[in-house]
Amino acid sequence: MNPQQSIPATLIPGDGVGPEITEATLEVLDALGVPFVWDRQVAGMGGVTACGDPLPPACIESIRNTRLALKGPLETPVAGGYRSSNVRLREEFKLYANLRPARTLIPGGRYDNIDLVLVRENNEGLYMGYEHFIPIDGDPHAVGMATGVNTRQGCRRICRFAFDYAIGQGRRKVTVVHKANIMKALTGIFLETAREMYEAEYKGRIGYEEVIVDACAMKLVMNPWQFDVLVTTNLFGDILSDEIAGLVGGLGMAPGANIGEQAAIFEAVHGSAPDIAGKGIANPIALMLAAAMMLDHVSLHDEAARLRRDIDLTLNVDKVRTGDLGGTAGTREFTAALVKRLMTAD
Ligand code: NAI
Repeated sequence: MNPQQSIPATLIPGDGVGPEITEATLEVLDALGVPFVWDRQVAGMGGVTACGDPLPPACIESIRNTRLALKGPLETPVAGGYRSSNVRLREEFKLYANLRPARTLIPGGRYDNIDLVLVRENNEGLYMGYEHFIPIDGDPHAVGMATGVNTRQGCRRICRFAFDYAIGQGRRKVTVVHKANIMKALTGIFLETAREMYEAEYKGRIGYEEVIVDACAMKLVMNPWQFDVLVTTNLFGDILSDEIAGLVGGLGMAPGANIGEQAAIFEAVHGSAPDIAGKGIANPIALMLAAAMMLDHVSLHDEAARLRRDIDLTLNVDKVRTGDLGGTAGTREFTAALVKRLMTAD
């Protein structure tokens, strides 16, 4: 891509700390000189406040046009209220791949030199919402039932994404995580599809292994370095992606991408952090790393690498860190230090 060519993209600052970390991220993207042209939209509680809708049609229309979005956290009411706008966006744009990298940013923690990527199937499995209760003897919730659905097409799509991503990024191995010993149909189809696809199309191009999810969870704690790229179904991916975020210090620095054929949405993994919203102390790194993933997505790889490198330098050489990382800097202070790094010639 010609770096001068403008790139239209939707910007959803989001709720709580969202606007603060979004402004910080825009500042660093400006310092990088990347040519995004933003179409600002609201969703979540911001959408409810502005126009009575947590996912306004204008926001959907914008993403349909740009096919690319950077999104701050969106508030979802617990038990009742409106459905998660995040889940609706995943469904609306068939964002079937959830990409969650975890990389050590601050050395000296419990685990050093972690560099893992988890690819989670985002649309199928036990998240389809086919759930109900069966009432018995006056107890309306005597039995709870859920049905999971994995399709051949869905398994092919996510496995192909994982293999292509791993090869494209020069990674060494893809680990297929399953529970096909027990859920022989629901996760059996996933394992069978991954295995067939590997044998037919990817053998010799990338390493391959299969691990049962419970063993995987243990191995991630005992020796995470044995893994590289992991691919799994929706629920296991949800759990394991938080586990790998924990290996590198928690959700505060974890970026995520939701990718489909129709659009790609990049976000921080954490929520709107209402307890610290408006205080100017939020750590903006997760959203900045999500922006780095977005730069890779539009083939601005040099800019993505520069952003990641300068975040490392700001944290570890300049030692500027926000409170959640044990530092004293506020959002603006950290951002200013990072911008200074970005403006410094190599
Ligand atoms: P949360 O991630 O917002 O907060 C959990 C804890 O982490 C809090 O103590 C918070 O202060 C801290 N934290 C989060 N982000 C931080 C940051 N950037 N810097 C420093 N500290 C940070 O999770 P919670 O409280 O469960 O959810 C709050 C709201 O966010 C809910 O409405 C939830 O539905 C929504 N949410 C939205 C997500 C999204 O839009 N992708 C993801 C997760 C939650």
